[in-house]
Amino acid sequence: MNLSKVILDEAYRNGILVPSLNIPHLPMMPAVVQACVDEQSMAFIAVSRVEWEKFEAGGIVDVKRAYDEAVTDTETRSYVRLHLDHVPVIDEDNLQVDYRSIISEAIDLGYDSVMIDGSRLSLDENIRVTAEIVELAHASGVPVEAELGAVFGHEDGPPPPYEEVFREKRGFTVPKEAGRFVRESGCDWLSVAFGSVHGAISEAFRDMKKPDARLDLDHLALLVEATGVPLVLHGGSGVLKEYLLPAFKQGVAKMNIGTEIRQAYTNALRETGSVGKAQDALYERTRYVLNDYLGIRGSREHFRGLLPE
Ligand code: 13P
Repeated sequence: MNLSKVILDEAYRNGILVPSLNIPHLPMMPAVVQACVDEQSMAFIAVSRVEWEKFEAGGIVDVKRAYDEAVTDTETRSYVRLHLDHVPVIDEDNLQVDYRSIISEAIDLGYDSVMIDGSRLSLDENIRVTAEIVELAHASGVPVEAELGAVFGHEDGPPPPYEEVFREKRGFTVPKEAGRFVRESGCDWLSVAFGSVHGAISEAFRDMKKPDARLDLDHLALLVEATGVPLVLHGGSGVLKEYLLPAFKQGVAKMNIGTEIRQAYTNALRETGSVGKAQDALYERTRYVLNDYLGIRGSREHFRGLLPE
C-alpha cells in the first residue's frame, strides 16, 4: 500500500500530526527538508497550483526536481513525502482549471499523494469530480485528499474579517454532508473547515500577519464522527497553540502550513537581499514550527516500523 496513506492512517489512529509544509519559492526546499531531518519529524512537502501561478514555485516538474535534489539518500527520504496540494476545479479567480491533466502529470512524476479541490462546486459536483480523481489516482496507488466547506483566504482582495467568519461559522463543513461526501467520493483524506482561514495570497495582502485563529473543537468532533477518515486542517499558520493538541487527538492527522514559513523566507530575503540568509531564517523558523509550535520533534520514530529498510 502507498506509504503516505499508511503513515497518515497511523497518525490518525494515534492522534499524531504529520504537518504539510508548502514551498511557494524553490529555494525554500532544502532548508525546509533539512529542518524536518534535524527535528527528526515526519512531514509532507507540498506545492499547490496557486504557488506556481502566483508565487515562484515554477511548476510541478520544478518542485519535483528541487525535492529530488534535497532528498538524495534513504535517511532523508524517511522523513518527508511529496504532496500535491490544492488543484482547484474552479480557481480563486473563478477560472476553470484543467485539474485532471495536472493531477495525472503529478502522479506520473512520482508525487506520493494529491489533492483535488472541488470546494467551489455544489456538493453533488464536488462528489462527482472527486470520485473521478479517486479512480484515476487509486489506479496508480496514490491517495487523494479532497475538500468540503470553505477555508477562506485565497480570494482576491483583503482577507475576510476573521471574528465574523468564526462567529457565524461561515464556510464550516456540514457534518452530514461530510459523511455522504466521504462515502460517495471514496477520498482518503478530507480537508474540513471549522475555524481556520488560509493566509492571504493576493499581492497586496500576502505579507500581512494572519489573525490568531481559533478552532471549533465541538464542530470538529461532529466531523470526525461523520467521516471516519484522517482530517486535514488547512490554513495552519496562526492557529492558537492551545487548540492544536486537542485537534490532533480528535482526528486532524495532517495540517498545512504555508504563510508562516513563506513570510520567514521572504521577509529575510527583503531585509538582507541574500537567498542564503533567507534560507537560514526559514530553516530556523521551520524548526521552531516543528518543535515549539506543533510539538512533534522526533515524530519520525513513531513511524519507523512502517518505513522500508
Ligand atoms: P497557511 O498559509 O494559512 O498556513 O495555509 C496553508 C495551506 O492551507 C495550504 O494548503
